[in-house]
Amino acid sequence: MAQQTGELAQLAASAATCTRCSLHKGRTQVVFGDGNPHAELMFVGEAPGFHEDRQGLPFVGPSGQLLNRLLAGIGLRREDVYICNVVRCHPPGNRDPHPDEIAACRDWLDGTIRLIDPKVVVTLGNFAARTLLETATGITRLRGRTYPFQDRVLLPTFHPAAALRADTSGRGENRTLKGMEEDFQTLRQLLQERRPEPLQAAHPEPSHPEPSHPEPVRPSVPEAPEARPDGEQLGLF
Ligand code: URA
Repeated sequence: MAQQTGELAQLAASAATCTRCSLHKGRTQVVFGDGNPHAELMFVGEAPGFHEDRQGLPFVGPSGQLLNRLLAGIGLRREDVYICNVVRCHPPGNRDPHPDEIAACRDWLDGTIRLIDPKVVVTLGNFAARTLLETATGITRLRGRTYPFQDRVLLPTFHPAAALRADTSGRGENRTLKGMEEDFQTLRQLLQERRPEPLQAAHPEPSHPEPSHPEPVRPSVPEAPEARPDGEQLGLF
């Protein structure tokens, strides 16, 4: 575990001086990723925005606030998950990343996934879903189901920025946000299905009663752990 954390720090240090594409010219800093390096759940977004470029952390602006709300809605905190982007440098004027920039950044993405080794990957928006699923299909058609990805499960959903844009249109129901909320319920279910069996189920009570014993008996299994925060109860660590 310590080795994996060290390797992740090394990878981030190498990425910090990356000049593989022209995005390095306009960045304040590389936004490598953030969160629990042992997370079973990883989010992949598109590219750092203005705030992320300044702070050096992914999803800290308005999109990040919505992501935090959606996480809280299923009992998770940012610290329970790992978050990164397809490209690690802020594109000028918040434009979409270009295919050559996504390709140049691919090693950092693959390295991050390998080291975090998440069981579930949630992609946010078109670029992340298309990149990891290697498809030209758009997010509206991709979302609403899961996909096998390496030996993991991939769940595509909309980008929070799309939900925020839709929110300000003032034309009735925000269907993008509603779709994201549905996808987060799917995510909650997925994580619940992955929850380990309760400890006592693996060590059933003996079928015959214990004799009353004057000597204290050393338990052969460790004490059950104390109640854990939500993220842990969902089997995320
Ligand atoms: N949008 C993204 O795709 N990533 C971020 O980190 C912030 C906004």
